[in-house]
Amino acid sequence: MNRVAQPWGIGGRLVVGANARPVEPQTVAYFSRTPAGCEDRDSPLIGGRGMSVLIRPARAAEAKILSDLALRSKAHWGYDAEFLDACKDELTVDAGEVARRRAMVADRDGHVLGFTTLEGEPPTGTLGMMFVEPQAIGQGIGRLLFERTVAAGRELGFARLTIDADPNAEPFYRAMGATRIGSTPSGSIAGRVLPQLVIAIQS
Ligand SMILES: CC(C)(COP(=O)(O)OP(=O)(O)OC[C@H]1O[C@@H](n2cnc3c(N)ncnc32)[C@H](O)[C@@H]1OP(=O)(O)O)[C@@H](O)C(=O)NCCC(=O)NCCS
Repeated sequence: MNRVAQPWGIGGRLVVGANARPVEPQTVAYFSRTPAGCEDRDSPLIGGRGMSVLIRPARAAEAKILSDLALRSKAHWGYDAEFLDACKDELTVDAGEVARRRAMVADRDGHVLGFTTLEGEPPTGTLGMMFVEPQAIGQGIGRLLFERTVAAGRELGFARLTIDADPNAEPFYRAMGATRIGSTPSGSIAGRVLPQLVIAIQS
């Protein structure tokens, strides 16, 4: 894969907290991986060509889009309907929380391909949610979102971010440089334990 991570465009601003510096969204150009055998190379969800993705603050009006995306994304791992139903509350983003949770989206041609939330106050924050649209998984969108969220956290003065990960996503977070520090109970499923990871983000 040949990916160029050169920001070139600047749009709106993510302003978090009275004393925090604004976090600038960035348009990032890269060449995505295309799933093998994929014919629909021009789909905004699939890509497969040099393209630009805007990493920007989510809008309150997008709360339902984010919640629905999170549920579809979680289903990527093959969980059954009962399990997903139990996760629904935790995967719901309320419009009134979008700014407080510092939600950021990856936007390609007006389509939200994924999002993160960056929660808490420095020095220790939480990567609260991190979901990529199933059709866009494996194309580098997760890395773009993760790196931009880490950069935003650094700009806001966070020293580290903790992550309560879905077990299937742990290898992704390790690939991003996070390390396992323990386990934590699931907020949705009684008795389920999730891997807890941390990434140091201040040099
Ligand atoms: C986890 C998730 C966010 C990763 O996003 P993605 O867009 O698929 O990840 P990327 O394509 O950017 O992959 C980035 C790197 O991580 C690696 N990676 C991704 N998933 C991996 C996995 N399951 N195992 C090992 N490595 C993995 C890739 O090989 C890639 O490495 P490279 O950039 O050095 O080539 C995505 O799979 C997802 O949304 N899953 C469903 C929902 C979920 O579980 N979210 C996390 C909740 S805690």
